[in-house]
Amino acid sequence: MAKFVLLTSLSILVIAITCSLAMRVLDETPIDPNDPKVVKIAKFAVDARNKQVRTKFELEKVNGGGTETIPDGTVYQLNISVIESQVYFTTRLVAVLVHLDGSKELVSFE
Ligand SMILES: *[C@@H]1O[C@H](CO)[C@@H](O)[C@H](O)[C@H]1NC(C)=O
Repeated sequence: MAKFVLLTSLSILVIAITCSLAMRVLDETPIDPNDPKVVKIAKFAVDARNKQVRTKFELEKVNGGGTETIPDGTVYQLNISVIESQVYFTTRLVAVLVHLDGSKELVSFE
């Protein structure tokens, strides 16, 4: 008579589902801070910000950044140095969306 030993193993499968949004890897291409096109976009960001909140930022220079291509166009994420009221130097992180038709839109200015 055969004895069947049932080994009941309770296997708990822990499936780690990584939130794809949180892990989203930006497909960023680095920019050349001295590229006139990049400087123009940085100036646009500063001008747009000045109009929005009546500040008087002036672009000092572009420190670096990258671009990300999205269906609407290209997002430029730039680290820039600005002078505020001709006195204070601050570093800002800005994002400008350049639409497919070439028009620019300030996405963020922090
Ligand atoms: C922006 O660039 C400056 C100069 O390279 C650097 O010191 C600063 O940490 C950068 N800021 C951010 C938030 O990446």
